[in-house]
Amino acid sequence: MLSDKIDGTVMDSAGSNLRGIANFAVGYNNIDLQAAKHRGIQVGNTPGVLTNATADIAVGLILAAGRCFGPAIANVQRFEWRNWEPLMFLGQEFEGKTLGIVGMGRIGHAVAKRMHGGWGMRIVYTARDPKPEAESSFQAIRLELDELLAQSDVVSLHCPLTDQTRNLIGARELGLMKPKAVLVNTARGEVVDQTALADALSQRRIFAAGLDVTTPEPIDRTDRLRSESNCLILPHIGSATEDARNQMAMMAANNLVAAMDGKLMPFGVTK
Ligand code: DGY
Repeated sequence: MLSDKIDGTVMDSAGSNLRGIANFAVGYNNIDLQAAKHRGIQVGNTPGVLTNATADIAVGLILAAGRCFGPAIANVQRFEWRNWEPLMFLGQEFEGKTLGIVGMGRIGHAVAKRMHGGWGMRIVYTARDPKPEAESSFQAIRLELDELLAQSDVVSLHCPLTDQTRNLIGARELGLMKPKAVLVNTARGEVVDQTALADALSQRRIFAAGLDVTTPEPIDRTDRLRSESNCLILPHIGSATEDARNQMAMMAANNLVAAMDGKLMPFGVTK
């Protein structure tokens, strides 16, 4: 599972027969690839099959955080709904606004496709290399991160967790965002500095955040983000559809079978 940290010590404790590690996830930041490579152990993941499921959750979080679903649902559940009020739970609209995709991989592309096609959003993105398909399909414009943060009405994070992306969004970056902006994270919790995010949300320096991932998972009982009304948190359910999880399970199983047969994993991340 993505929650299992698999380092060299774990690999060694598994014994010398260990041939393969099949992650039940597309992200594999929980596995020490160098340690695996060093020991001749294959590592596999489950790319592609959870793209749509995770993109749907990102879109859901954009709408839910931007339209105050969290406090609005709590209002009904606490029996506090008295009247229709002109200024109750005012949120943001997205039609024609700018969506910043941080990491235009498969999932980032799928979110851009949905929000450009459905809401006519202008797409800007960061990526190590230009993405010609995104540029031709939705006229996406590649920017440096600072410029993307300054221009975007919604910022959606889709980069893998690496040494370069850990705490990518901290106090300085949140300070560059628009006061009405919505931040969505369906990537990994560690990409965002949660203390800085709690400060920005409580001081209303950004409008809202929608998180499917946190640090740690589950989030600490005492984490301030849990009590910010403009922070909507889901328990890492990005890939939680029957279709995606069935396909992930098959891919992980096929990776293991291949490794046990001494073959290359069909979905290997180490070569
Ligand atoms: C993954 O597979 O990396 C996702 O985070 C699971 O939801």
